[in-house]
Amino acid sequence: MVKKTKAPVTYAKMKGVVSYFTALIKDKKFGSSHSMYYRQMDFLRSESLSEDDGAAAVCFSDPPTEEPQSRVSAADFDYLKVIGTGSFGKVFLAKHRENGTHYAVKVLQKHIILSRKEERHVMCEHRVLLKTLNHPFLVKLHFSFQTKDRLYLVLDYACGGELFYHLQRELVFCEPRARFYAAEMASALGYLHSLNIVYRDLKPENILLDSAGHVVLTDFGLCKEGVAGRDTTRTFCGTPEYLAPEVLQQKEYDRTVDWWGLGAVLHEMLYGLPPFYSADRFEMLRNIIYQPLVLKPGVSSGARDLLKRLLNRDRAKRLGAKRDLVELQSHSFFSSIQWDELVAKKIPPPFIPSLSSPGDLTNIDPRFTDLPVPQSLGACEEYGATFPGFTYISENTSSLSVQTRGH
Ligand code: ADE
Repeated sequence: MVKKTKAPVTYAKMKGVVSYFTALIKDKKFGSSHSMYYRQMDFLRSESLSEDDGAAAVCFSDPPTEEPQSRVSAADFDYLKVIGTGSFGKVFLAKHRENGTHYAVKVLQKHIILSRKEERHVMCEHRVLLKTLNHPFLVKLHFSFQTKDRLYLVLDYACGGELFYHLQRELVFCEPRARFYAAEMASALGYLHSLNIVYRDLKPENILLDSAGHVVLTDFGLCKEGVAGRDTTRTFCGTPEYLAPEVLQQKEYDRTVDWWGLGAVLHEMLYGLPPFYSADRFEMLRNIIYQPLVLKPGVSSGARDLLKRLLNRDRAKRLGAKRDLVELQSHSFFSSIQWDELVAKKIPPPFIPSLSSPGDLTNIDPRFTDLPVPQSLGACEEYGATFPGFTYISENTSSLSVQTRGH
């Protein structure tokens, strides 16, 4: 088991299966008034937030007995292609039959989720956090609903594909391009940290691009570390390249693990390989924990200095340890970044994914799109309220779908 100082909430855990249950704030039973929302927010922002505290304070003791009537169901979508996979299920490109919008629909198998012992506890902990995820570089949830066997999470479709799909093809990114992505990622991570959320597993498959070429962090890693977030299997069977040494060693960790992760991703963008790389996985684990960081020439001294500071094994001395994102923002590598403009998406992305239509699959790895799409996805089997409170319709999307339905 990995120990933690402040029992940080992980983004994967929170934003995935379990947190989407938190859509309870949309339930009539609990109301969705702003005052309630902000009271919850105050609590969530509190420094004292821990998993146990969260469970105690946020979890409503009586789950709702009736699921709210959802206007959106599995049958409202055409499931076109597989665009991602994980241990709980798959992510599909789907098209809403009425409004024609394309979404990424993450379909999770209930029986797999229910077999995880910690699941209910985690579900309670982060009930409300979902609503806090309003950031330009974090994927958005539009709807969630369930059938007898599955949970459906309807997310923005990030049609630019995985950032590392592009990196694999180009081998390395030039510094301005790497800087842009690193800055957008840092901004999203800093936002999560401000809500006491630790992403913990920044890694290639979680970093997507939208149609304009902006970063979208998603919860795709959930399947490996979400609900069973601290099991040792995850640590050693997952991708170790981007994990901070303290996580690998099952030591105490905090939000600075994300700054290590950002350093690892930045290293790969600039050098084409993660730091401490070895084709032998155990060798790489050893390297991450024990080997000094060697940074070859070929990148600027500013970039190398940032990498050294982010990839500092001593998390207390790691860049971001004291003032989090602010420390990164004032590093010379980012001196050309206007952070307000960046968050307002006013900085033109260095690369615009080539797309012919909103449902374009050009940038999605064929290892996903070649997989078969099960026929049963759109079937609304008998309802099984195994996950009360799961049903959710985001405000923006609900008005959009109402308008569309009016036509
Ligand atoms: N893979 C996982 N989540 C995705 C999303 N939201 N968009 C595109 N591909 C994905």
